[in-house]
Amino acid sequence: MRSSPLYLEPRLEPRLRSVLQATDFLHTLVDALGSPLNVVLPEQITENEERFRAVYQRHHLSGDLYFAHKANRSSALVRQLAVTGAGMDVASLAELQHVLGAGFTPDRIMATGPKNREFLWLAARAGVIVNLDSKAELESLAELVGKYVLPRVRVMLRLSAFQAPGVKVLSRPSRFGSHVSELDTLLDAVERHRDAVELIGVAYHLDTIGLPEKAVALETCIRVMNECQRRGLQPRAIDIGGGFGVNYLADGGQWERYTTELTNAVLGRRPALTWQGHGYGLRSESGTLRGALGLYPAHRPVAAEGYLDELLSYPAPSLGRPLATLLLENLYDLVIEPGRALVDQCGVALARVLEVRHTPTGDCLVRVEMNGGDVSLEEHGVLMDPVVIPRDGSRPAPDAEAVGVYLIGNLCLEADLITRRMVFLPGLPKPGDLLAFANTAGYFMDFSADHALQQPIARKVAAYQENGTWRWRLDEQYWPITCTGEQS
Ligand SMILES: Cc1ncc(COP(=O)(O)O)c(C=O)c1O
Repeated sequence: MRSSPLYLEPRLEPRLRSVLQATDFLHTLVDALGSPLNVVLPEQITENEERFRAVYQRHHLSGDLYFAHKANRSSALVRQLAVTGAGMDVASLAELQHVLGAGFTPDRIMATGPKNREFLWLAARAGVIVNLDSKAELESLAELVGKYVLPRVRVMLRLSAFQAPGVKVLSRPSRFGSHVSELDTLLDAVERHRDAVELIGVAYHLDTIGLPEKAVALETCIRVMNECQRRGLQPRAIDIGGGFGVNYLADGGQWERYTTELTNAVLGRRPALTWQGHGYGLRSESGTLRGALGLYPAHRPVAAEGYLDELLSYPAPSLGRPLATLLLENLYDLVIEPGRALVDQCGVALARVLEVRHTPTGDCLVRVEMNGGDVSLEEHGVLMDPVVIPRDGSRPAPDAEAVGVYLIGNLCLEADLITRRMVFLPGLPKPGDLLAFANTAGYFMDFSADHALQQPIARKVAAYQENGTWRWRLDEQYWPITCTGEQS
C-alpha cells in the first residue's frame, strides 16, 4: 500500500442507491446485453423537474423549462419528460426529429445553437421556438419563411459578451450568440423581418458556475427587454440557459483532502496520484506550484435547483434588488434550459472488469470492458469513484485493505484510461465484477461514445420499479405507460 486511500465517493440518492444494490439485476443485464451498458432511470427525471418547478413557485415566477437534450440521447428520458410540463431544447436536426417522435408538441420545443438550413426549415415548418444564434441566422430563417411560405416563427435572441456598467465582472468570450453591443442592428433586423418572425424573448447560456457573471447577464437581458418594449416589440420571456450544475460527491471533506493531496503530489511531496504525473492543470516549477486546477468542482453544495434559487435571490449588480423581484415586477417569464442538472441521479454506466494486473513498477491496473469515450468523466474533469459490484455478491471485509488502481480501457491505445487519476477502491476487484459509474446520465454516457476499434458502444436500458422490484426495457422500448394493455 503506497498511500492512504483518497476516496471520492459518489453522491447517491435513494433511487440510484437502490438500483446499485440490485446486484443480480445489474449482472444479469450486462450478461445479456454486454459491457459497457448504460442504465437510465426515467422516474428520476420527473422528480428533478418537480424540484425546479418548486423554485419557480417559491419566487412566484412563471415560465418554461426546456431540457437540454444534448446531455443524453436516451429516448426513455425524453418520453418520460413528455408526460411532465417540461419542454425540450434541441440543438440539431436529429434531436428535433427525436423529440417530435417522443410526444412533444411544437409549442414545447425550442431549437438552440447554430443551425443548418434543414434544421431551421423543420423548426419553422413544425412551429417550434427558434432561439437565434446570430443576425445571419435570423436572415436565413426569414428567407426560408418567405421562400417556402411558412408560418411566422416565434424567436428568441441569444446574446453574449455582457458587461456590467461600472462593475468589474468579466464575461467570458463565447462563440455563440450575438454580441450585446450589436443589439441595435439585431433589433433593426427583427423589425425588418416582422412578417417572418415574432420576437418572444431574449436569451443567454453561459458556460460558467459564477453567479456574479450570470447576474450581469440576467440584468442586462432585463434592460434589453425594456429596450425591445420601447421599440414596440413585445417579448415576454428571458431565457437564462442551463449551467445549474450537479453535486457529484457525497462528502466535501473527501474532495478537499483529494485536491490538497493532488497538489502535494504535483509538488513531489507525496507519491504520485495520477498516471505519469498528470497534474490536471497544475505543475511544479522549481518547487513552486503553477497553473490552475482544471477540474469540475465535483462537490458543489449549491447545485441544480438550489443554484437557480440562489441566482434568483442574487442582487442585480446595478439595481440592487433580487433578480427574481425584477422579473416579477416586469411580469417577465423565466425560461431555463437545464441539461446536466435535470438528469442528476438519472443513470449509471456499467463496465465489466476484464483483468487485474500488477506492473513491475508497482502500479495496479484494472482493465475494464469499456473505454474512455464510454464514460467521459475524465474529458469533463469530473473525478468520482466507481462502485464495485462483485460478481459473487460478496462485500469487502471490514478489515480489507484499500487499493489504489488505474482503470484502463479496452482500446489498443496508451492514452485510453478511464481516468488518469489513481482510483482508490475498498478492495481489489476480480475479473467478472462490475464497476458502476454512478450519476453519469448528464453528458458522460453517450456524448463522446464512439466505435473506435469497432468496439460496440454501450446499449442503453431504462430501469424502473414495479412493486419494489427493478424491471427494465431497452431504452427504445420504454414508453411511460403500460404497454401490455393490462388495467392498472
Ligand atoms: C444553449 C444551451 N442551453 C443549455 C445547455 C445545458 O447546459 P447544462 O447541461 O450545463 O445545464 C447548453 C449546454 O451546452 C447549451 O449550449
